[in-house]
Amino acid sequence: MLIDIIAGARPNFMKIAPIAESIQHAQEKGYNIHYRLIHTGQHYDKNMSGNFFEELGIPEPDINLEAGSGSQAEQTAAIMIRYEKVLMGKKPDLLVVVGDVTSTMACSITAKKMNNIPVAHVEAGIRSGDLTMPEEINRMVTDCITDYFFTTSETANKNLKKAGIEDNRIFFVGNTMIDTLLKNMPKLKQPAIWATAFLSNKEYLVLTLHRPGNVDDAQNLKLLIETIVESSRNIPIIFPVHPRTNKWLQQLGITAANLYVTEPLSYLEFNYLVKHSKAVITDSGGITEETTVMNVPCITLRNSTERPETCTIGTNELIGTDPASIKPILNKLFENKWKRGTTPQLWDGRTAERIVDILLTMIV
Ligand code: UD1
Repeated sequence: MLIDIIAGARPNFMKIAPIAESIQHAQEKGYNIHYRLIHTGQHYDKNMSGNFFEELGIPEPDINLEAGSGSQAEQTAAIMIRYEKVLMGKKPDLLVVVGDVTSTMACSITAKKMNNIPVAHVEAGIRSGDLTMPEEINRMVTDCITDYFFTTSETANKNLKKAGIEDNRIFFVGNTMIDTLLKNMPKLKQPAIWATAFLSNKEYLVLTLHRPGNVDDAQNLKLLIETIVESSRNIPIIFPVHPRTNKWLQQLGITAANLYVTEPLSYLEFNYLVKHSKAVITDSGGITEETTVMNVPCITLRNSTERPETCTIGTNELIGTDPASIKPILNKLFENKWKRGTTPQLWDGRTAERIVDILLTMIV
């Protein structure tokens, strides 16, 4: 069995790492299962891509499509055209895609249209209901043509069943991103900013922002950051900046004595910072899962989430995108009234093993 595994953008790399590793383990046990790792090149900077491969021990991609940046349509088209050329050569028996980035959707469509190659979607079925997010469209389109749905939550299972997907195509396996987190917990690395910003345990905030809705309107971004600074009681705020956000930040020239803007951090450094922080303020989805597992308070600047379990049983609170909501929630944090989290079912570090066990039953 030959499997194409697609990795395109930063949040994909930690999700595919344990799958590739589990396939290798199966090979070592003598199973006839092989993979080609295909990097679409959606993210290409060393600190958005290369560092993750090195730190997580992911083998070099077999193929790099080098699709690069562009508008949603340009990026989707570039990935499809380049992956189709790959498929004109050797075809895999199965395509494995993860998450919700443009590469996930583009490669699924290409494989499905080309000889009906079966698609397995890891992290299938989650929905925010917010069609202004490109990720939501990627999730919906991918799941429409997915054959095997590997899910992280009961909510995802329910969403898929409601959409008419038969039970025997839904596999509730857990969360491969958490496999990577648990495996790497002992290796987390203190970043240089720890010393330069004089950080100490649980006495600083981590901030990440990259959603177009939050960062593409310069005045809104400015107001968000200024409000966070004003409400932070002067504890350090560490802000590793995504390239999309950096473009605006440079123009706005926002500075404050306790705001430390850095390049995107490596996986081991970023999660070290998160683990020891007082709280994280973010608009990411994946980070809300990691903070839940590490039991770190998380404040999400979004109106909806496709990961409701991070709020219902985890440490996450959704506060929307209105800067006026920031001060009250930070006051609650500083009064030490934050809820404690429970780890969601099957987020136990063994998800990739379960996925590969299921894939092995498909070998004829
Ligand atoms: C993408 C994903 C999002 C994910 C995020 C994490 C989609 C639709 N969105 O959004 O789900 O949470 O990645 O990072 O797939 N850029 C660089 N260097 C890079 C990569 C990008 O400078 O290595 C620049 C691009 O030129 C562009 C901007 O960053 O200006 C945005 O990149 P893009 O891949 O379009 O989407 P993200 O916002 O990163």
